[in-house]
Amino acid sequence: MLKTVLSYAHELIEKTVAPGETLIDATCGNGQDTLFLSKLTGETGQVWAFDIQEKAIERARELMTANDVHHVSFVHDSHANLAAYLPHDEQIGGAVFNLGYLPRSDKSVVTKGDSTVAAIRNMLPLLKPKGLIVLVVYHGHPGGKQEKQAVLDYLNSLDQQKFHVLSYGFINQKNDPPFLLAIEKR
Ligand SMILES: C[S@@+](CC[C@H](N)C(=O)[O-])C[C@H]1O[C@@H](n2cnc3c(N)ncnc32)[C@H](O)[C@@H]1O
Repeated sequence: MLKTVLSYAHELIEKTVAPGETLIDATCGNGQDTLFLSKLTGETGQVWAFDIQEKAIERARELMTANDVHHVSFVHDSHANLAAYLPHDEQIGGAVFNLGYLPRSDKSVVTKGDSTVAAIRNMLPLLKPKGLIVLVVYHGHPGGKQEKQAVLDYLNSLDQQKFHVLSYGFINQKNDPPFLLAIEKR
């Protein structure tokens, strides 16, 4: 009955996105979220997919090719620098972050609090009204707790007149289960 964190994240973003919009996959990794977002925008829209690892971009690109998806722009750089790549004043319909490390890869390359917070801060002015940024927060790895705290501290500081911030997760699961954070622009 209760949705998993990932399926609830997808459900939330799906409800708020219309075909033709621009969406951000802030941590493309193997490309599963990129593929999901590309279906929401349709070919009339666009997905910008960021990752600091070339290997991730390669895998995600292969997944798009295998699925005949051609409206994804890959950026081999930190999501914190997104404003340097998007067209000036581009409005975004939503964004997804999957924090932590790339599955089947070097587990020491992880998302970090400073750059994750910088990326969210840079995205908020571009987000459409009623748009969502969703973050699936994995925090069981080294450095994961610090990132989680940095993100929570920043989101706690957002003006409630301007943003709604939701947390969703299972509090009785063992081994640091991931949880969802969603920011809605009012
Ligand atoms: C949990 S994985 C993402 C999984 C992905 N959503 C999928 O479907 O496979 C996190 C990814 O974030 C990337 N990453 C780490 N720091 C980053 C940054 N500052 N900017 C963009 N990507 C980053 C890692 O290289 C890794 O591929």
